[in-house]
Amino acid sequence: MKTKNTYQKLFSPQSIAIVGASNKKGKIGTIIAENIFKLGYNGKTYLINPAYKFLGFKRCYPSLSAVKKEIDVAIICVPAKFVLDVVKEGMQNVKNFVIISAGFSEIGAEGAKREQELIDLAKKNNLNILGPNCLGFINPIVNLNASFAAGMPKAGNVAFVSQSGALIVGLLDKAKEEHMGFSNVISIGNQMQVDEADILEYLAEDKETKVIGMYLEGIKDGSRFLKVAKKVSQKKPIVILKAGKTEQAQKAISSHTGALAGSDEIVDVAFKSAGIIRADNLDDFFALLGLISFTDAPKNGQMAVITNAGGAGVLATDAFKNKEIALMEFSQKAKENFAKQLPSESSVHNPIDLLGDAGADRYQNILEMLKKENPGSTICILTPQQQTPVEEIAKIITSVKEKNKMSLAAVFIGGERIKNGVLHLKQNNIPNFSNPESCVRALDQYYRWSIFANEKTDEQKYAANADCKKIVSNIIKNAREQKRGALSFSEAANVMLEYGIDSGSFWIVSADGEKPEIKEFPVVAKIDSDKVLHKSDKQGVILNIKNSGELEEALKALGQNFPGEKVLVQPMQQKQVEIILGIKKDDIFGPVIVYGLGGIYTEIFHMADFLLPPMSEAEIKKQVLSGKIRFLFQGARGQKAYDAEEFSKIIKGIMDFALENSDIDGFDINPLFIYNDGRKASAVDIKIII
Ligand code: COA
Repeated sequence: MKTKNTYQKLFSPQSIAIVGASNKKGKIGTIIAENIFKLGYNGKTYLINPAYKFLGFKRCYPSLSAVKKEIDVAIICVPAKFVLDVVKEGMQNVKNFVIISAGFSEIGAEGAKREQELIDLAKKNNLNILGPNCLGFINPIVNLNASFAAGMPKAGNVAFVSQSGALIVGLLDKAKEEHMGFSNVISIGNQMQVDEADILEYLAEDKETKVIGMYLEGIKDGSRFLKVAKKVSQKKPIVILKAGKTEQAQKAISSHTGALAGSDEIVDVAFKSAGIIRADNLDDFFALLGLISFTDAPKNGQMAVITNAGGAGVLATDAFKNKEIALMEFSQKAKENFAKQLPSESSVHNPIDLLGDAGADRYQNILEMLKKENPGSTICILTPQQQTPVEEIAKIITSVKEKNKMSLAAVFIGGERIKNGVLHLKQNNIPNFSNPESCVRALDQYYRWSIFANEKTDEQKYAANADCKKIVSNIIKNAREQKRGALSFSEAANVMLEYGIDSGSFWIVSADGEKPEIKEFPVVAKIDSDKVLHKSDKQGVILNIKNSGELEEALKALGQNFPGEKVLVQPMQQKQVEIILGIKKDDIFGPVIVYGLGGIYTEIFHMADFLLPPMSEAEIKKQVLSGKIRFLFQGARGQKAYDAEEFSKIIKGIMDFALENSDIDGFDINPLFIYNDGRKASAVDIKIII
């Protein structure tokens, strides 16, 4: 069983072996051995290579077992075909392995077989294996570089985890320039066994780590990852740069809603649900890691901005649009005090304009006075005018931040003239942005994370309803036995009823069979067949039938066009608002509920949102009330609000259905009519593709 300390020995070992250590210039075994020896690691080290008795002055062992002592971790850099034997031979005295070697699942069937053998071995013998096909790891806190990346990054509080080894190398190089320090740098390679969720769990407990940055291409087990990430996010921020698309080919016929949900949007929703901060690109990623590493999260959403450039202040003001954080309103007293310290042309409103000739004293005075106003964070903007003492201002900002323990970020705009000032900021842990927009965006993301971390979210568990599951699986089984591709309307309506979703009254008839006793007109007649899924396109729907004579005609016409098929007759409901609801299966995160504005404008307005089950009804309602179609439930333009509670119950029903019937191929309700006059919502058309 994995415990808190499972990976402690792997990533912070007291003894380490290098299998495949060498002295031949440029070989990976040589580079890793040199990195471990020359960069200050103090633990015990063992070189393993049967070709040598000594490497330099250091003894070399023919195998791991020949060391005859427990070793915390072995770094393996021999060709893939030898790796299994090395692990088998060494597992008596080593439990943790890092496999640098390439040549596993990433190369196809032969490599996948090798990888599977290793997985089986690890499982059976309780081993932890990082990689294969990875760069290794670096723990700057103990001066251990167990990778073939060059040098030792500065020690600090950022943990960086990457699926790409090459990206680590680039990032570490840039980090040097940014003066960013690391607690861990981990290359996870094929994540054959130790995966990104395991590493998150480890880093959550690592006291040196304040922020976790991840570069991910794929996610191994989406639902486990989200569960772990959600827990970890409550403790420390996770920033992820996610590359790669996961779009599953859409089965156009099966579901209309599928097309509304791009896989990348689902990643957004999934990350948001777990409190993960998503970076859009590498620059963003760096900016976020720098901000979080260097300063505290905004204490509240009210920001103060000071600037020596009016234009930059305007840009900053614009940047707050659609953000959770806002420019704060200063108290009258504060504004009077600011005014006493500034020339009369200055603006004492937020952003405070210190004017172009501002020296360090104006920055200092205002920053000190701002303390009383208790801003969530303060943004200090500077452009280098002729008389601007850039470095002096950088020093003042640093000392005021230190003294007052403020959450603060700088935006020094310029190039050559601000170089030394920016260097001073970086050396003294002040996050600096090259423009106000990036700064405001990053602070906003940091703030949203802090709200997530402070909200106690219950773990959403789904309790299956055995009776309902049995009834529904019998209906689906029966249809499958009849080799049908979809449920009929009456079957689908019965399934939905089990989940509390009503389809109103209806009759199923055949063109030449008995006619229903219908007293209330108008009605609608539709073909109810798994072979005709898009009925309107194929003239399978006749609307506004006003009496039994017209119904007779309609049934005849449908019978001629679709011989032998059943016909569904429903009251012609007066529509108010049409909603579309569906389930999209995401490769990574499983079923995703899609809901939005239906009708003819569905695709044009793209007013759809996505929710990841399981969720409680209360949580669904919260999302509905903040989603794209929230206006319906808020009573826009004097209209009576639609019932958010009823709608959330319907979504909950669909979530439960999705979780209990993960093997269905497609689902949508299109349309669901909702009303704001007391009438119950009604699923007018339901497709369940099996
Ligand atoms: N135990 C210990 N040492 C062994 C061994 C064993 N069972 N079998 C072989 N060795 C030694 C060899 O004698 C050799 O020593 P030498 O360099 O002094 O001659 C050393 O291990 C390495 O073996 P070699 O056959 O020379 O392989 P290599 O160094 O050319 O390549 C890898 C080994 C692992 C680097 C290579 O196979 C590989 O996978 N490269 C890609 C790595 C990569 O890109 N990873 C992903 C990064 S993101």
